[in-house]
Amino acid sequence: MRVKQRFDLSRNELHLGPLPEVQRVLESTAAGFNRYPTDDQIARLVEQISALHEVPPAHVVVGAGSVGVLDALLHTRPQTDASTIFGTPTFDEYSALVSRAGGIGVAVPSDPPGTQALDAILSRVDGSTRQVIVAAPHNPTGTGVSIDELVRFRRALPKTALFIVDQAYAEFDTSTPADCLRRIVTELDDVVVLRSFSKAYGLAGLRIGYAVFSDAALAARTRAVIPTFSVSSIALCAATESLRQQRQLRQRVSDVIENRQRLESFLVRHDLFSGAASQGNFVWLPAEDPNALFRHALGDGILLREYPGLGVRITIQSDASVHAVLASLATFSTLPCHA
Ligand SMILES: Cc1ncc(COP(=O)(O)O)c(C=O)c1O
Repeated sequence: MRVKQRFDLSRNELHLGPLPEVQRVLESTAAGFNRYPTDDQIARLVEQISALHEVPPAHVVVGAGSVGVLDALLHTRPQTDASTIFGTPTFDEYSALVSRAGGIGVAVPSDPPGTQALDAILSRVDGSTRQVIVAAPHNPTGTGVSIDELVRFRRALPKTALFIVDQAYAEFDTSTPADCLRRIVTELDDVVVLRSFSKAYGLAGLRIGYAVFSDAALAARTRAVIPTFSVSSIALCAATESLRQQRQLRQRVSDVIENRQRLESFLVRHDLFSGAASQGNFVWLPAEDPNALFRHALGDGILLREYPGLGVRITIQSDASVHAVLASLATFSTLPCHA
């Protein structure tokens, strides 16, 4: 019998749409969506990002998702015979984007799985390394990376390697200070920080994100590679209004964090906790047989993200979804083969 899927917790999407005030503004501006996006709309959003992080606008680049900016960035730099290093497991797109840009992806396994393996990544850096990408917080484990660790890491890299810090989940990260992004791009050279409107802001389907560069010249070259009109006016409008609604944002983020803690406490009580507190809108569950866990949850109508041989990642969404996960895990851990 086919079980109805009740919760898709496989893609780290928020269960909520745009912030309430953003929805209202989108409805009231919909009549203007027959027009192409304007430079003014982009400039307004860039100004807001610049004010939020206290960085000059010339260092900010907006694109179709943080992935869109990363794609443009990779295309500004010669990739032939050049490598890009990242940990594995991590966000799947890094490997695809690097290959598409003509480069060589070097995926460094973490040991034990569930750590960010910064030292293992560093040990693979050589003369061919053009970029190093670190997701902070890490996907899929949610582990945070402190500013000190990022500084130490950048200083250990050769100048020829660009350091890309992907902070797609920054809004859920309680382990780093609010001015983290500004400090990274002002205290370090040759670094780019990626941010997304897809996660906490609930705009994944609109495709909008940005990057802040330590180097304004590289920012300008990246901006030049992004096709005109590739960021829609509805996305620009939603992102601009979203940044004005920080109080509403904080409320939804704190709800997600509360549910994250609920799930982590359950894992601790059942001796299933990975040991790494998540700073994202998801929780990592290492498992000897992740496929059995995946199938068990699916039988309860819950779609998780399986990492073969390593574990599963569970996106934190509504109270109901977390209750369903707890109930499903409780029956899984009492099955004879897992008791
Ligand atoms: C680490 C990481 N970076 C970036 C993204 C995607 O960001 P965007 O939707 O802004 O392209 C994801 C999505 O899952 C992610 O996990």
